[in-house]
Amino acid sequence: MPKLTYLSHSSFLIDDGVHQVIIDPFLSCNENAPLKPSDIKAKFIVLTHGHGDHLGDAFEIAKQNDALIIAVNELANYAASQGLNAHNMHIGGGWNFPFGRLKFTIAHHGSANAEGQYMGEPAGVVFSIGGKKIYHCGDTGLFLDMKLIGELNKIDVMLVPIGDNFTMGVDDAVKAVEFVNPGLAIPMHYNTFPVIQADPDEFKSKVEAIGKKAMVMDYGQTLDI
Ligand code: NI
Ligand code: MN
Repeated sequence: MPKLTYLSHSSFLIDDGVHQVIIDPFLSCNENAPLKPSDIKAKFIVLTHGHGDHLGDAFEIAKQNDALIIAVNELANYAASQGLNAHNMHIGGGWNFPFGRLKFTIAHHGSANAEGQYMGEPAGVVFSIGGKKIYHCGDTGLFLDMKLIGELNKIDVMLVPIGDNFTMGVDDAVKAVEFVNPGLAIPMHYNTFPVIQADPDEFKSKVEAIGKKAMVMDYGQTLDI
């Protein structure tokens, strides 16, 4: 049974008992983060896009752990140019890693690094790990193709941005949950900055009102999925 730990913002750690995979590790410049980059022992780092609140401490964690960075081609090439191990992928493509299968999906957003260099298309990610499917939406607005993601994958856990301004707000996020039809929806990408203040309990109650399950994870909380 995989374990999912919320590291605040859009960062999660997935542990299948053998492998640890960290997603969008934004820890050191994030006062909500329950762990420091030096606490992370993951061998796999998955990045949805190149913005600072997602790329975060990825390169430091990769160096510390001799970890593999998994990202779309342009962002993976940037990681490789910094001397890191990277696996280049792109949207619509999947690959079988030691922890399971990972497939990149579309996300409607931007992606450049802090210097303004283009980092490829932003993405969402569908993980198949320990017999479960987790869909991390990345940073995105609502899009109708989420229906297709839900139709092609029986999603157990959906990680949904709700903070508005840069991504979906609460009401669009609830619609996204309706489209994907996951077993459980967990909000992310809220309350880190003043412009993304949102009420996760409002999201939870609106998801429950459409007959779906939602859970608000605390920073550092671990869930068996
Ligand atoms: Ni972003
Ligand atoms: Mn973001």
